[in-house]
Amino acid sequence: MNVLFAAGEAAPFIKTGGLGDVAGSLPKALCEAGCDTRVILPLYGRIDEAWRNQMEYLLYTYVDVAWRHLYCGLFRLEFEGVTYYFVDNEFYFGRGKVYGELDDAERFAFFSKAVVSLLPRLDWTPDVVHCNDWQTALIPIWLREFGGFYKTVFTIHNIEYQGRYAKIVSDDVFGLPEWLYSTGITRFDNDVNLLKGAIYQADAVSTVSPSYARELLDPFYACGLELAIADNAYKFRGIINGLDEARYDPAADPLLAENYSAASPEGKLICKQALCELLGLGTDYETPIIACVSRLVGHKGFDLVAGAVDEIVARGAKLVILGTGDKYFEGIFADAERRYPGRVSASIMYSEARAMAVYAGSDMFLMPSRSEPCGLSQLIAMRYGSVPIVRAVGGLRDTVTNYGTENSGGFTFDDYTVRGMLGALDYALQIWRDPAAWRELMLGDLRRSFSWAAPAEEYIKMYEDITR
Ligand code: GLC
Repeated sequence: MNVLFAAGEAAPFIKTGGLGDVAGSLPKALCEAGCDTRVILPLYGRIDEAWRNQMEYLLYTYVDVAWRHLYCGLFRLEFEGVTYYFVDNEFYFGRGKVYGELDDAERFAFFSKAVVSLLPRLDWTPDVVHCNDWQTALIPIWLREFGGFYKTVFTIHNIEYQGRYAKIVSDDVFGLPEWLYSTGITRFDNDVNLLKGAIYQADAVSTVSPSYARELLDPFYACGLELAIADNAYKFRGIINGLDEARYDPAADPLLAENYSAASPEGKLICKQALCELLGLGTDYETPIIACVSRLVGHKGFDLVAGAVDEIVARGAKLVILGTGDKYFEGIFADAERRYPGRVSASIMYSEARAMAVYAGSDMFLMPSRSEPCGLSQLIAMRYGSVPIVRAVGGLRDTVTNYGTENSGGFTFDDYTVRGMLGALDYALQIWRDPAAWRELMLGDLRRSFSWAAPAEEYIKMYEDITR
């Protein structure tokens, strides 16, 4: 089985969020399971010079998108046994931002059309093109149009981002046939919705956890696409994400003050001391540190965290926030740091080194998401012995079980309220006061595995289902 995996980002070349982690680790697991998987990405200007220097130039061609006739170069790089292709067009990708440019529709229409046009020109022929999120949603739409020779899988990593554009923009930029709109395949109100089109036109559709797959039938979670999901339920499934366990390994991570593992966990306290020093959190190491590492946006539950800062401090715990996002939340947490020096720390930034220091140095990891397709942070947290406190939603529900149940790894709550979250937090603080019980819980998390091996088999099963 040959699979071309198309995405807007993949670690370690370029990463803005969870999709980058998945695209940077699932293909490797698929290759290890015997499925020849290669990745295709835009050649962003932001990709490090050191990677660019290793790339091999393959070919150039021209790609037609609506009325535009566009240069398209192709480069190749082998990394950790996986082949990566990079699509070059300096005008579209030689910019500062990965996403969030005014002409994103045009940039990713070009990328998607480039993937479609390059398929017969690669030195290898995929059976399946596996597309991810709205940036690649035009690929299954175009491939269906061109006869369905290549089968397509479309994975939804987060339904909040749909690639929705006014009809007039769509006509000029995508040049799609009118019938796709008039039959409702791409139509959403009076706009064109690329995600909706991909859900209808792909041979199989998946999302990143079984619970989120169920939730997407519910208007509360589906952001207007619940009927599209229901219409396509016959080809829709949820497959939980794994974690790159070699990359996220407290026993070997070079970014930690000290390495540790379930067999020798002493280093975790040294990491806590280092974190306290880095963030100015004092030296009373008996006090639990509760951490959030996330984009600071509403659907990650930061309205609850913002509403609970005083309560958390009143309970004697310390709060560490790391991330950027809505100015509103950035301001609230920066202000909380000023109000509670030494008790609240807000790093309004994104830094990989600091993020790993927080995972390793914290005791509890708070993720009160309103919705969460899968979530990777809770997996990283468990792997680093920071016990998760999560809302039981989407992938959080599938990966964290509440304390007291069998093989439990953390604390969960259902009610999306400050009171609901504090209930779980109080339970965690109660267990914290029993050091032996806490140690057992923490060691259990350190031993837990989130390997890609099982999910990779489920993906291969999905590829087989559509190619036989
Ligand atoms: C998105 C989702 C997150 C998921 C990730 C990878 O970032 O918000 O829940 O883990 O994609 O699939």
